[in-house]
Amino acid sequence: MMLALSFPCNKGYSLLESRVPNAGFNRKANSMAARTIPVDPFDLVIFGGTGDLARRKILPSLFRRLKAGQMPKQARVIGCARSKMTRKAYQDQIRAALEEFISDPEERPEDLVETFLGGLDYVTLDVTDDEGWKQLQGKLRDDAVRAFYLSVGPSLFGPIARRLAEFDLATPESRIVVEKPLGHDLESAKALNTELAACFNEDQIYRIDHYLGKETVQNLMALRFANALFEPLWNAHHVDHVQITVAETVGVEGRGGYYDKSGAMRDMVQNHLMQLLCLTAMEPPAHFDPDAVRDEKLKVIRALDPVPLKDTVRGQYRANGSTGGYLEHVGNPDSMTESYVALKVQISNWRWAGTPFYLRTGKKLRSRMSEIAVIFKEVPHSIFPEVSERKRNALIIRLQPNEGITLRMTIKDPGPGGMRLTEVPLDMSFADALGPADVTDAYERLVMDVIRGNQTLFMRGDEVEAAWAWTDEILGRWEESRERPQPYDPGGSGPEDALGLMHRDGRRWREVET
Ligand code: NDP
Ligand code: BG6
Repeated sequence: MMLALSFPCNKGYSLLESRVPNAGFNRKANSMAARTIPVDPFDLVIFGGTGDLARRKILPSLFRRLKAGQMPKQARVIGCARSKMTRKAYQDQIRAALEEFISDPEERPEDLVETFLGGLDYVTLDVTDDEGWKQLQGKLRDDAVRAFYLSVGPSLFGPIARRLAEFDLATPESRIVVEKPLGHDLESAKALNTELAACFNEDQIYRIDHYLGKETVQNLMALRFANALFEPLWNAHHVDHVQITVAETVGVEGRGGYYDKSGAMRDMVQNHLMQLLCLTAMEPPAHFDPDAVRDEKLKVIRALDPVPLKDTVRGQYRANGSTGGYLEHVGNPDSMTESYVALKVQISNWRWAGTPFYLRTGKKLRSRMSEIAVIFKEVPHSIFPEVSERKRNALIIRLQPNEGITLRMTIKDPGPGGMRLTEVPLDMSFADALGPADVTDAYERLVMDVIRGNQTLFMRGDEVEAAWAWTDEILGRWEESRERPQPYDPGGSGPEDALGLMHRDGRRWREVET
C-alpha cells in the first residue's frame, strides 16, 4: 500500500538555484513558471577539453544550461589539449559529443547547438611546456568571469597552476576547478593542496565532488533545516541508526588501471559517502554560506572515531559464468583491492554518540541505488497487541534513481479485522512533485556555481585532508591485516560478512533494490 504525498509545494524551496519563488500550489502545473536568472558572461577554459569528462559531462551540462537560459549567449568556452586541431575541428568534435550524450534530438534544437558551438574555441597546448599560453591569454576577456577547469590528471594540477600565474592568466577573481582524485592518501592530498595554494587563494579553488551537486543531496539540507518537523528528532535519542548505501550495477568498466590502485574506499567512501555522512550528521550552520556549511561538515569528520577492523568489511566481485570477475577485469590475479566496502561508523559528539552510521558501497550489485535511510527508534511502549510486527519509522532520502523522499509509517490495516497494524510509505518523487525538468544533472549546477562564485557545494582543502586522515587509518589496518577481500556474487547485495555487520547488532540492511 502506498499513500501519495500530494501536498502543496512552493517553488522557492531551492536553496541555491536562482529561481523566483512562486505562489503556485500544483508543482507540475507550475514547473513551467520557474525562472532562471542568467549568470554573468564568462570565459571557461577546460584543460583536457577533448577528454571523456569534458565531452560526456562538462560540455553537455553547459549546453543544457544555455538551453535553460542560465548560461548567457556571450559566454565562451575554450578547450585546451595537446592534440593539434583547428577551432572548427573542435566544434565538430563537441557537436558529436552533444549528439552522443544528449541523445534525444528534441533536447538539442539545432539553432541552440549552433549558438553553443559558436561560443567554443580551442587552443593546442601541452600544460607541461611554455608554448600556447600567450595565445590562450589573448582569447580571455578582462570583463568576463574567468574560470579554469582542470579536467586532467592530478599530476598536471601543479604545472597548470604555476603557468596560469606565470603567464598572468589568473586574476585575483579567477576560479580554478579540480576533480577527484584529490590525492591518494593524506600526504598526497596535502601536496596537491600546497601546489594549488601556491598560486590560488582557497576562495578561488573549487574542488568538485559531483555527489554534492545531486538534487537530493542538497534537498537533505532543505529537509533538515527548512522544516521544523525532523530536526528535534535528528539525534541519538530518537534515531536508532543511519544507513548510507551507494550501490552500483557497473563493474570497473575499462578503468581497471585506475580502480585497482584506488578501490571502493578511496574511489567512493573518502569522498562521496563521506559527504553524504557529513550532510546527514552535521549541526545546523549559523548561515547558509560556504564556510559556515563547510565548518560544520569538518567538525563531523573530526568527530569520527577510528574504525576497528571488526567493523569493516571488504569485498571483491567474483566471476559469473563466462563473465569475468574483478580480478579479470583489472588484469591482476593477485589484487587485494576491494570493489565493495561496508563500515560501521561512530560519531563521537553529543548529537550522535551511540547511534551508528552504517555505510556501504559496491560495484556489480543487484541494482543501481543510492539512499540515506534514517531509522528511528521504536515507540517507548506499545499499546497494540502485535508487538512483534511493529516496525520502526524510517525516513528514506533517495539519491538515485527516482530521486525523492519516503517516510515509512505504521498505520492501521484498513477493514474490520480488528486493530492490525501495517506499514505504508508516504512517498514523494521529485519528478512527480516538481516535473522531470527540475531534476538537473549535478555538473550543471556545479559549473554554474563556479561561475556564480558559490563554494557551498565544493570541498574545502581542510575537509579533504581530514577525510583522508580518517580513511588512511582504515586503509592502514587493512594493509596490516593482509586479509583478502571476501568474494561476492555479481548481481547480489554484497558479501556475507556485510550482513553479519548488521545482524550482530540486531539490525538489517535495507534491500538493494529499486
Ligand atoms: P581523459 O584521458 O579522457 O582526458 C584527458 C584530457 O587531458 C584529454 O583532453 C587530453 O588530451 C588532455 N591532456 C592530457 N595530458 C595533457 C597535457 N600534458 N597537456 C594538455 N592536455 C593534456 O581523462 P578524463 O576526461 O576521463 O578525466 C580527466 C580527469 O578528471 C582525471 O583526473 C579523472 O580522474 C577525472 N575524473 C574523470 C571523470 C570522468 O567521468 N571521466 C569523473 C571524475 C573525475 P590530449 O591527449 O590531446 O592532450
Ligand atoms: C565516481 C567513481 O566518482 O562516481 C565511479 O569514480 C563511480 O567509480 C561514480 O561509478 C558513481 O557516480 P554516480 O553519479 O553514477 O553515482
